Amino acid sequence: MKITVVGTGYVGLVTGTCFAETGNDVVCVDIDINKVNKLSGGQITIYEPGLEKLFERNLKEERLHFTTNLADGVKHGEVIFLALPTPPGEDGSADLSYILRVADEMGKLITDYKVIVDKSTVPVGTAEKVQAAIAQHCKHPFDVVSNPEFLREGVAVDDFMKPDRVVIGTRSERARKVMGDLFAPFVRQGNPILFMDEKSAELTKYAANSFLATKISFMNEIAILCEKLGADVDMVRRGVGSDDRIGKRFLFPGIGYGGSCFPKDVQALVKSSEDADYEFKILTAVMDVNERQKLFLLPKIKAWFNDELKGKHFALWGLAFKPNTDDIREAPALYMIDALLAAGATVTVFDPEAMANVQRVIGDKVTYASSQYECLANADALVIATEWSVFRTPDFEKIGASLKNKLIFDGRNLFDVARMAELGFHYESVGRAA
Ligand code: UGA
Repeated sequence: MKITVVGTGYVGLVTGTCFAETGNDVVCVDIDINKVNKLSGGQITIYEPGLEKLFERNLKEERLHFTTNLADGVKHGEVIFLALPTPPGEDGSADLSYILRVADEMGKLITDYKVIVDKSTVPVGTAEKVQAAIAQHCKHPFDVVSNPEFLREGVAVDDFMKPDRVVIGTRSERARKVMGDLFAPFVRQGNPILFMDEKSAELTKYAANSFLATKISFMNEIAILCEKLGADVDMVRRGVGSDDRIGKRFLFPGIGYGGSCFPKDVQALVKSSEDADYEFKILTAVMDVNERQKLFLLPKIKAWFNDELKGKHFALWGLAFKPNTDDIREAPALYMIDALLAAGATVTVFDPEAMANVQRVIGDKVTYASSQYECLANADALVIATEWSVFRTPDFEKIGASLKNKLIFDGRNLFDVARMAELGFHYESVGRAA
């Protein structure tokens, strides 16, 4: 099938590459000429495990093309995906200006039947707005479909190739047939393609992300209670998660959820609710808990140092908002760094992938170490903010020898509490005995 993807950000590039990988002829459009030149020249612009190999293969085999020319893209695609940014506006609602501007442009360019697909996470009612924006200029037949993306950074290729479900919001039989054919190769194992109306599809995405964020904030509150009551959150998590109705995943407590999706989407759904004259009470609490959770370790650190962090030096492992990505948007580590610096401490950081991005944002406010062990030199304590695999079984002798104190504050519960005590560390984590 001939596919066009407008926007070569994270979702767009994964979408375009994975459609090419299944044999489609894909054109990706972006207004950023530098990005288009890089991508056309074989240089991938995002870090995502497994993507580069597919990208290189499909570029070489000429199933994947990049251009800045929207007219060429519109001419090419029978199906045109919009994977454009929807940043939060000042009031928390999603800003649709990028999408509507492209829709407006496309309206002038369409000359035969097209299926236009909203892939970005967009508020309920956006498909209608896109439809109206295109229809203003376009007299040819077209359908606007909502097809929200559920991929996770770090495992995006797998999530795209083997989705738990594909959600397609359209009331048009013609569009339904085109989308069903396009996605059939991705659901051969029998996972469902769920057809529904556009609004339900749009809301499904927000509801899914908000529910997952709720699970996390809920467990973060249970972790607080565990500490107060002397229970162990690892045990409670297993006990609770073994109930199929609840499920084992997304119950890991920590120093809060981050990234470009959960914080933005929960906030946007709260705002949409307000606009619909409804107060979504649970989600307001989910956001509050997460804000507090990002600094969960701070009172513990302050208590250990008798409230005097001035002149203290901290090693911090993990900057990305989660492992296997270099994405630092809304990363709890950054909030932690700000708080430590504000209290007069200094910080040396290490992350396997995200150092360059952090340097771009906070420059020389912190020192950047070239390895996780170099990071520890002369530090009063180690703070862990992201659960990268390389941090899971470290050389504790080396850690003990490098730190001034055998002291670890772990925001991701990487180590066994009893083992750390045996090794002579004072070890504090989330929801477990110190
Ligand atoms: C999330 C959703 O999981 C995807 O399904 C969705 O498509 C995507 O948002 C999106 O809207 O585009 P992502 O932001 O890549 O994906 O990251 P997740 O793996 O979901 O993790 C989100 C945050 O939750 C991370 O900060 C992670 O550390 C935190 N988390 C996750 C926990 O604190 N505890 C857990 O048990 C699980």
